[in-house]
Parts: sequence; structure tokens; C-alpha cells
Amino acid sequence: MEIIILATPAEIGELAARKVARTIQQKPTAVVGLATGSSPLAIYAELADQVRHRALSVAGVRAFALDEYVGLPVEHPQSYASVIRREVTEPLGLDPAHVFVPDGCAKDLEAACQRYDAAIAAAGGVDIQILGIGANGHIGFNEPTSSLSSRTRLKTLALQTRADNARFFDRPDDVPTHCVTQGLGTIMDAREVVLVAQGTEKAPAIASAVEGPVSARCPGSVLQFHPHATLILDEAAAAQLTLRDYYHHTYANKPDWQRF
Ligand code: GLP
Repeated sequence: MEIIILATPAEIGELAARKVARTIQQKPTAVVGLATGSSPLAIYAELADQVRHRALSVAGVRAFALDEYVGLPVEHPQSYASVIRREVTEPLGLDPAHVFVPDGCAKDLEAACQRYDAAIAAAGGVDIQILGIGANGHIGFNEPTSSLSSRTRLKTLALQTRADNARFFDRPDDVPTHCVTQGLGTIMDAREVVLVAQGTEKAPAIASAVEGPVSARCPGSVLQFHPHATLILDEAAAAQLTLRDYYHHTYANKPDWQRF
């Protein structure tokens, strides 16, 4: 994994957006994997800015979200379908017909999950996957002890995740108990992964994911097996990494031809 530690959330968003933009410029029909949560918002804002200034065209882009709550109607403001529309589809001017979110209200959830994986495969697979990480190490909604080779499926949300996400709902009990999420195996199929994290509450999860053993206890640690994963962090999220100096040194001395 490449670990890049930057000073501010704005710098993190700018650099991660540059990676996504480069993928789209090289392949205008790129498939982009979208994450919800507050961590990637600066990426979307930066990409929207580039589109506005005609520095980037997303006309051919297709996008797949990671996850969705079960039982929350699509029109609910906190459904991930709504969040993705508000934060990504509309600001970037993506064609809504090219943006896919798992169906958390399907009668047959298992079949819907299988169709979702099949749709990603039919689109040619994800070229670049944007990720955040939960305080408990989850990526997507793959909670601790998720199978490292799981595919899109139904999951029960961890109590900590429900508490963390309660801020988006009127009452803690309104947070759904279940979700559908791309599996860790699904996420690992992406050709490139960019994970962004900010703040001290993410420090233990980042330390486990980067320097801990690969273990379902910290689902993010599966990225150690990914051939092209970049983690872009602020100092607070990187605070518990023991090799912090090495990561700074590596990035400062990155050969020009390797920069993006
Ligand atoms: C959510 C999402 C994840 C996200 C994580 C962190 O529950 N399912 O995709 O990465 O939690 O969210 P945030 O970036 O707001 O801290």
C-alpha cells in the first residue's frame, strides 16, 4: 500500500480527485466506485469543480456505489441512493442512468445482490474505487469478521456503526439495522483503490489496516493484498502508524515519473 500523509482535508481531497480525474482522462468510459460518508466529500467537490471549469468530462463515466441501507426508501434523504444523487450525480452532472446503488428494498435481496455484482462485471469492472473507512475498520459496510472474499450481500450493521451514523437520523433507533454492501472480494476486484481518512477517531482503524495483520477483525486490512491501493491520510488519522516517518520520507522522495 502507498501511504500518503498530508496536512489538510482539502489537500487530501485534491490529490485523491487528481487520481480519479487521471483515470477518467485516460479512459473516458471509466467505471468509478463511489463511497458515501463525509471522508470523500472533498473529492467529489473537487471533481465537480473540474467539470464546471471544463477541465474534466464525465459524460462516459459509469459509477457504482458501495452500499445501501436495507428498508430505507430510495426517497429518504439518508438513503445512500439520495446521498449519492446529492453529493455526486448532480454536482458532477453524471448521467443518472449510469449511476448504480445497491437496492436495499428489493423483495429478494439475495438475487438483487447477485445482480449488482453481475452489473459491475458487465460494465468491465471498477477502474478506480474511492473508499473511506469506519472507526471499526469497515470498508463499505463490511463489518469486522466479514469474509475477506465476500461478494455483495446482506449484512447486519455493527452497534458502533449504528451509533456513528445516528447523527444523520432524527433518533438513534431510526438507523437501519441492516445493509447491503459490496463484499471485500468485490472491492478487491477494483483495479485501483484510493482510501481517504481524516481525524483521530480513524487512527486505530488506519493503524490496524496498514500495519496490523491481515485479519477479518479489521476488514480494511484486506487492502494489504491489493496490488494498487493508495491511502491518503491527515496527520491525525496517521497518528498511530509506527512507520509514519518512512511514509513521509517515501512520498517526499517519490521519483517524478511516479507522481500523479
Ligand atoms: C459509512 C459508510 C462507509 C464510510 C464510513 C465512514 O457507514 N458505509 O463507506 O467509509 O462509514 O464514514 P465517514 O467518512 O463519514 O467517517
